[in-house]
Amino acid sequence: MSDLHAELEGIRTAARDRLSSASGMEQVEALRRELLGRSGRLTGLLRQLGSVSAEERPMIGHRANEVRHELEAAIQARLGALQVGDFGQRLAFEAIDMSAPGRPLPIGHLHPVQTLMRDLREIFHAFGFEVFEGPEVETEEYNFELLNIPRDHPARDLWDTLFVAEPGSVEAGEPKPAADGTILRTHTSPVQMRAMQALDAPIRVLTPGRCFRYEAVDASHAFEFFQVEGLVVDHDTSMADLKGVLEEIARALYGRDTRTRFRPGYYPFTEPSVAFDIGCLVCGGDGCPACERSGWMTILGAGMVHPTVLRNGGFDPHEYQGYAFGMGPDRMTMLRHAIGDIRLFFSADARFVSQFAEGR
Ligand code: PHE
Repeated sequence: MSDLHAELEGIRTAARDRLSSASGMEQVEALRRELLGRSGRLTGLLRQLGSVSAEERPMIGHRANEVRHELEAAIQARLGALQVGDFGQRLAFEAIDMSAPGRPLPIGHLHPVQTLMRDLREIFHAFGFEVFEGPEVETEEYNFELLNIPRDHPARDLWDTLFVAEPGSVEAGEPKPAADGTILRTHTSPVQMRAMQALDAPIRVLTPGRCFRYEAVDASHAFEFFQVEGLVVDHDTSMADLKGVLEEIARALYGRDTRTRFRPGYYPFTEPSVAFDIGCLVCGGDGCPACERSGWMTILGAGMVHPTVLRNGGFDPHEYQGYAFGMGPDRMTMLRHAIGDIRLFFSADARFVSQFAEGR
């Protein structure tokens, strides 16, 4: 018998031993490659048949084929057995444990600015205000003209307007503001006009909504932000009513001990106009970087509705008076939670917003 024959039987016995002790499908696959692969040992042995003497060749060739078939069948059988075993293991692993406690699903909650706006709605509701909303895409007429801000009035510089392009002008490479004066509203004040035109006196509305300005974005400026506007039109409405309501609102929002003050201000659509400040919530009034060392923080602008605006809204200023105010809920939320950067509100970062889950 040639060496080749002895080697063949050796491969066979060793393979059978390793097969029966293989504990994973990868091991069996590796063995298959090692024996029957292109450069496997059995394959190599078959290639050497040419060097065997002519008498022995048929016998060894026949035996080699037998061994190959036998090992192929044994490998297949072992793979099959292991697969069933794996499946059994998987089943045990994946079986449902009915006694396991449920996994909590993450539940969303209001954005902190929305929470503050909801609180404002509730507080103002107690004062008899109802919500009245207007469009975010406005016209220059409502955003400016009807609010006593004529086209060439320098006060227009107070609002850096985002214009809607004239259809086709962008494609033509020469963007132009829309000829019909369509813009993104720069404040919620145009809703004052829409409310006056739609409702009869007495009017008490709160108009929350998104506004847009062409601003360079930094820690305290965004090109997109919220305002909550208030408007009252009635007989015998006075500055005293405005002051009383705003002081109550500040205390309801920031606590009974909140200090407040009014300063003269300027808006074309109110006369007189005021700015309303609260004592700095960060330093308590001593002066710090957050309040620019003044001890005060401005939270809104307000005033008595200008007679021209009342007239534009269809009310006779001799018969009716009104007051209006415009608040910045983004800034108010920053004050409420001592948030240092307005950009966080728009960052869509769940790590930031999930800290304010109380507004659920
Ligand atoms: N619309 C003003 C602004 O955006 C705020 C304001 C509203 C002032 C109502 C007075 C009355 O700055």
